[in-house]
Amino acid sequence: MKGLILSGGHGTRLRPLTHTGPKQLIPIANKPVLYYAIEDLKEAGITEIGIILGTNMPEKVQEAVGDGSQFGVNITYIMQGEPRGLAHAVAVAQEFVQEEPFVMYLGDNILKSGVNEFVDGFESSDYEARILLQKVENPRQFGVAELNEAMDVVHLVEKPREPKSDLALVGIYLFKPSIFRAISHIKPSWRDELEITDAIQNLLDSGDKVDSHIVRGWWKDTGKPEDVLDANHLILDTLDPHQEGEIEDGAVIIGRVSIGKGTVIKEGSVIRGPVTIGENCYVKAYIGPYTAIGNNSRIVGGEIESSIVVGDAVIECNERIVDSLIGNHCHIITLENHFPQGRRFVIGENSLVNL
Ligand code: TTP
Repeated sequence: MKGLILSGGHGTRLRPLTHTGPKQLIPIANKPVLYYAIEDLKEAGITEIGIILGTNMPEKVQEAVGDGSQFGVNITYIMQGEPRGLAHAVAVAQEFVQEEPFVMYLGDNILKSGVNEFVDGFESSDYEARILLQKVENPRQFGVAELNEAMDVVHLVEKPREPKSDLALVGIYLFKPSIFRAISHIKPSWRDELEITDAIQNLLDSGDKVDSHIVRGWWKDTGKPEDVLDANHLILDTLDPHQEGEIEDGAVIIGRVSIGKGTVIKEGSVIRGPVTIGENCYVKAYIGPYTAIGNNSRIVGGEIESSIVVGDAVIECNERIVDSLIGNHCHIITLENHFPQGRRFVIGENSLVNL
């Protein structure tokens, strides 16, 4: 069994963060989203993994993942270029997959329970595909499956107006190589993409069997800023803390807090977990629950809670920052004795500032 992780796409909904790199490298609890997919596949015994690359700085993915040896897997990079749909991404991987069954994993998705239990028994079954589903409140925004009593898939529709069920497709799929034949038969959709739901529907129309599994633990698609923060929240809930940095006398650490090498937590700070702080940071502030601070950040004064600071940031202000996603090399500072008083910004395209 092989693995195929999709790390292309434009990531428009995550601008401006995706102006400087692919969204699959955005850190969740200080670890790129993409790493969670690689670790899940490895955990399921899958060590031959292809990574689909897009046009948005693909070299950054190659730099971050390398040949896969840091994860104990073998990585093959596959260039898709322009994102012409999930089924297109699968089609360009045919030479890599060859005649083996494979797990397709969207590189911006995180699944709490991993994929072990879903992979079991698929290879030897007579199913040509297996999809993962989760009950959602707003099925109109997802690919939706209609099942029979045996949980086999009868019909799939992408973002239906009149959903026949509340079971949405989770971004992880299992396929046999027959999917390549199905993809060759489908046409681009109204949004000009080759849809994986159309390819699976094509399998069903040809009489092939597709089964489904319901995902019981949480699943997060980190396509939008609020989803990234939610995922950070969920992962930090399971934080296994380690402390390698220096905690000065007079600093208060409450609950589960990780502190990386070379980081100093100055006296007077209060860090209320779950919080993870990376390496070589300088902190003299209040850091509240569900916050991840990336390497080389300087946080002085004020409060940060329920937020992600990607790294190399300087935050020196007496403000309370909440529910924020702060990209690399951002500065948020208070200017002393500066006239006229007011907020000054140097911010990029697609930035969002709530005052
Ligand atoms: P999406 O989030 O649907 O697409 P996107 O990355 O272009 O995002 P946006 O809508 O904000 O512009 O993609 C789901 C996952 O699949 C994501 O990890 C990117 C990946 N992908 C590809 O690798 N190739 C593709 O052709 C598409 C459409 C997505």
